[in-house]
Amino acid sequence: MSSQGGRKTIIAGNWKMNKTPAEATSLAKAIVEGVASQFKGEALPEIVLCPTFVCLSEVLNQVKGSPCKVGAQNMDYRDSGAFTGEIAPPMLTAMAVQYVLIGHSERRQFFGETNESVNLKVKAALAHGLVPVMCVGELLEQREQGLTDSVVKEQVVKGLAGIAATDAAKVVVAYEPVWAIGTGKTCETPEANRVCGLIRAEIDSLYSGTNIGAGVSILYGGSVKASTIDEQMEQEHIDGALVGGASLKAEDFLPLIKGGAKRLKSQLVKTS
Ligand code: PGA
Repeated sequence: MSSQGGRKTIIAGNWKMNKTPAEATSLAKAIVEGVASQFKGEALPEIVLCPTFVCLSEVLNQVKGSPCKVGAQNMDYRDSGAFTGEIAPPMLTAMAVQYVLIGHSERRQFFGETNESVNLKVKAALAHGLVPVMCVGELLEQREQGLTDSVVKEQVVKGLAGIAATDAAKVVVAYEPVWAIGTGKTCETPEANRVCGLIRAEIDSLYSGTNIGAGVSILYGGSVKASTIDEQMEQEHIDGALVGGASLKAEDFLPLIKGGAKRLKSQLVKTS
């Protein structure tokens, strides 16, 4: 598929620590109904809803028979054992969860996740057939010190360490500058596109000769909203969005799906 290399357009909602099971049910229902009524016959981006663990089952029930998929927000890398409070990959696959966020900046900042733990989890997700959405991004002080590129490259290289090219091709990367998450400060679109392009190039150089960077979906995340999505979805290297705040209400999230659908349409036009 032309310059987009066949990669998927993905609009993912990270509900974070929000919504009771009843609230998650209503939100998933509203999104599923909105998708059914607003996008008749249109090609849709991959829509991924990521509720808390305790709401997975409700959300999975709601999306049955719809184009929406479900992702978890985290997981352990081990299969089972004495790890109180953790959730293992086979538990997610047994529920028919298909995606899992790995190394979200809040996990890195508040729960001690490192590039090494991210790497173990990405490997575990791939081993269990889950699609890992590996999150990377710099802190404000790193950006101010001109360290954005080196920090992001290091996160990509360490996150993918020891992963074969055929598996790396299945990883989704989300570039989320930490200073833009939940702050209302969106990273300027050309800059977001530049860093997403840098991630793509880094993947290509890690797996030189394979050209897999062209097929990897790279999402932008950080205060994505209806007023920013169209411009973001017009960029060469931004294949979708990982959305926090604007994923918590169907009326905010549906326009983002629309933005993804527009990107898809323009790609189909380009290739036909
Ligand atoms: P935000 O969150 O859209 O609220 O900035 C994005 C994320 O944390 O994935």
